[in-house]
Amino acid sequence: MAILVTGGAGYIGSHTCVELLIAGFEIVVVDNLSNSNINVLNRIRELTKKDFKFYEVDLIDKSSLEDVFIENSIEAVIHFAGLKAVGESVKIPLHYYHNNITGTLFLCELMEKYDIKKLVFSSSATVYGVPINVPITEDFLLSATNPYGRTKLMIEEILRDLYIQNRDWNIVILRYFNPIGAHPSGRLGEDPNGLPNNLMPYITQVGIGKLEELRVFGNDYPTSDGTGVRDYIHVVDLALGHLKALEKVMSTSGIDAYNLGTGRGYSVLEVVEAFEKASGRKVPYTVVERRPGDIPICYADVNKAKKELGWAATRGIGDMCLDSWQWQIKNPNGYEDFKHISKIKMN
Ligand code: NAD
Ligand code: WQD
Repeated sequence: MAILVTGGAGYIGSHTCVELLIAGFEIVVVDNLSNSNINVLNRIRELTKKDFKFYEVDLIDKSSLEDVFIENSIEAVIHFAGLKAVGESVKIPLHYYHNNITGTLFLCELMEKYDIKKLVFSSSATVYGVPINVPITEDFLLSATNPYGRTKLMIEEILRDLYIQNRDWNIVILRYFNPIGAHPSGRLGEDPNGLPNNLMPYITQVGIGKLEELRVFGNDYPTSDGTGVRDYIHVVDLALGHLKALEKVMSTSGIDAYNLGTGRGYSVLEVVEAFEKASGRKVPYTVVERRPGDIPICYADVNKAKKELGWAATRGIGDMCLDSWQWQIKNPNGYEDFKHISKIKMN
């Protein structure tokens, strides 16, 4: 029996595949490689010394997806596959709705057809919209401020309806806060296309000299230093959270949502400082206007995950920065190639 991992070639999916294989699970990975690189798969094999089946399949292609269910004996699904760029989702909303929602509907239809009712779904802290206060507990009012966030919100609702219709379903919804960091080996990490949208990949590219300076989006928020505060979580801690969620869906039926964060917020400038300490590099920055749609403060109450999943993050901001930096310097062009490595001055 195998665990089907959709989006397993992506940033969080690849780290989770490593932890699943190390824990002894058999896995089958499905990814259309729309935001990932085929090289990831061999890195996963290399790190774990284990093999697994990979299907380059789009979830929207239901008949090819069905082949995966026909050819494998699947016990449970961890569903990462989806598009995730907030700004892009505003520009091409229909594509986001189609990819994320239709993809999930097809997946769930096939799961029903093949009587597989154990699902772990990647949601996001974005479903809390503009939170009224912090720390954020799972019972906060849900809302979304952009099409990407609405896909997560809608999928959560779809999954709740699925459970109401058939109480044999076992579903865990994981709401990630801000995943950063990389595998400590430096072999897996986040590989954004083009200019990074998120803070940590932007900082590491400034650190290595690919980008000139960080633009800090606003320093007039009601926070200790005026810059935005977020709950950054190491991607390996996040990956391990999926193993705990899997344990839960394997043992009980129901549907439940859990925050995966550290429960502690860091400002943009605190992250810059932690990165400079971990890397020994300076990160020049300029403060610019607030980024539209950004919220001032967001961090999780993580007690529910601790109590019910037996999971807590153990890696601190120093590890997150160090591992992000190691990944950046060892893979200056991400998974693409290593031709330019000698041109880049290492520390
Ligand atoms: P990612 O883009 O690195 O990984 C997603 C993977 O899904 C990619 O490999 C992509 O090629 C694949 N994919 C997308 N659409 C597909 C489709 N229709 N069929 C098959 N494969 C498809 O993103 P990630 O950061 O690893 O995020 C994984 C999940 O976690 C996503 O659902 C994302 O929305 C969610 N999430 C991410 C963050 C974050 O900041 N990284 C935060 C909260 C939630
Ligand atoms: C963090 C902080 C920025 C870049 C996004 C999505 C969210 C989730 C995670 C998927 C903020 C500041 C950033 C820069 C900056 N993804 N910043 N300069 O916005 O909290 O969350 O990723 O579900 O849905 O919205 O993360 O890393 O973009 O920003 O000053 O160049 O860094 O203003 O305070 P965010 P982020």
